[in-house]
Amino acid sequence: MAGMRVGVVFGGRSVEHLVSVRSARTVCDGLRAAGHEVVGLYVDESGCFRDGPASQGVIEAQRALAPTGEPPTRALRHLLEAAVDVVFPIVHGTYGEDGTLQGLLEMLDLPYVGCATAASAVAMDKLLSKRLFAQAGIPVVPYAAVTRGEHARHGLGGVQAFVDAEALPLFVKPAVGGSSVGCVKVKNKAALADAVAFALRFDDVVLIERGVVAREVEIAVLGADAATMQASVPGEIVPGGDFYDYADKYLKDDAKLLAPAPVDAATTTALQQAAIAAMGAVGGAGLARVDFFLLTDGRWFLNEINTLPGFTSVSMYPRLWGLSGVPLPQLCDRLVQLAVERKRHRARIDDALRAFVAGAAVGTA
Ligand SMILES: Nc1ncnc2c1ncn2[C@@H]1O[C@H](COP(=O)(O)OP(=O)(O)OP(=O)(O)O)[C@@H](O)[C@H]1O
Ligand SMILES: [Mg+2]
Repeated sequence: MAGMRVGVVFGGRSVEHLVSVRSARTVCDGLRAAGHEVVGLYVDESGCFRDGPASQGVIEAQRALAPTGEPPTRALRHLLEAAVDVVFPIVHGTYGEDGTLQGLLEMLDLPYVGCATAASAVAMDKLLSKRLFAQAGIPVVPYAAVTRGEHARHGLGGVQAFVDAEALPLFVKPAVGGSSVGCVKVKNKAALADAVAFALRFDDVVLIERGVVAREVEIAVLGADAATMQASVPGEIVPGGDFYDYADKYLKDDAKLLAPAPVDAATTTALQQAAIAAMGAVGGAGLARVDFFLLTDGRWFLNEINTLPGFTSVSMYPRLWGLSGVPLPQLCDRLVQLAVERKRHRARIDDALRAFVAGAAVGTA
């Protein structure tokens, strides 16, 4: 599509701040190679937008900038003054991938890449999204949920029947989170209470899941909506440690990424269909990386959907598309094109609403 002025929003308030800084470099390179003008829009760890030169400096140095102490409301001018045609948000986790940034961009009437507000928020919430996946007939691992309020009143009473019926290990994790923060593998039931209390530090809802022994296989999806969405070849994460925990993701270098993953054709097709169905279940648009557990007997479960997946030079999402015949510049360009098309579509709906109200007003005058 013709060259546009694209604002790449990156950094942000989540624990994945530095991953986002790395993702931004790849996205900026891809957009420039596709002929777009790129404006980096860095959000520091206090949630403040920073100006263009400072943002460009962060991308070049690949280092976070210390917050200035300015309130985020005043720093918003940097986004407004950038005068971009379209935004490519590549902020991972909370205050970026969870619908909050998307809501801000909706209010500012700016087209943006990826899922809209509701889909982003639902996909970020592991309890809400599991309910939608299950309703759509997509298998998820058996789980139980406990809220802070229930926990305060009844401890683990409400989930006792589930826990008694399950074998070990169990996985305990905050419903809204990322980067495996607060995620604990529970190997004896005496440790469960502490794991739940720990996870409750990070969210008000905690999931207790059956721990499966499984390969971790991921599919990338791309398209306007589930009806027209395409799915990539599968990739696989082979954790270096006991499971794919925070240290494995960011501190060590032991995890292996296999792309493409050695998965048979029938399973690949099933996972691709499920990935697209998952996108439909949450009402997603644009892009997502959908993560599965693949068991040795061929059964599989959908683990989670990531609506702004890692985009670093080694990240699965761009690599899987590269292997599926969509090189990085084309991928970034397509995402911008989808953002612009969705905005046009939304504008038609807004026009219809205005015309309806105007017509009704004439009718009653
Ligand atoms: N039910 C389970 N059975 C086996 N392993 C699990 C289970 N749940 C989580 N894990 C392990 O813990 C890791 C992190 O879990 P999960 O993907 O749910 O959390 P996350 O914090 O959302 O991560 P992300 O950064 O991908 O959003 C998984 O990649 C996997 O290695
Ligand atoms: Mg995960």
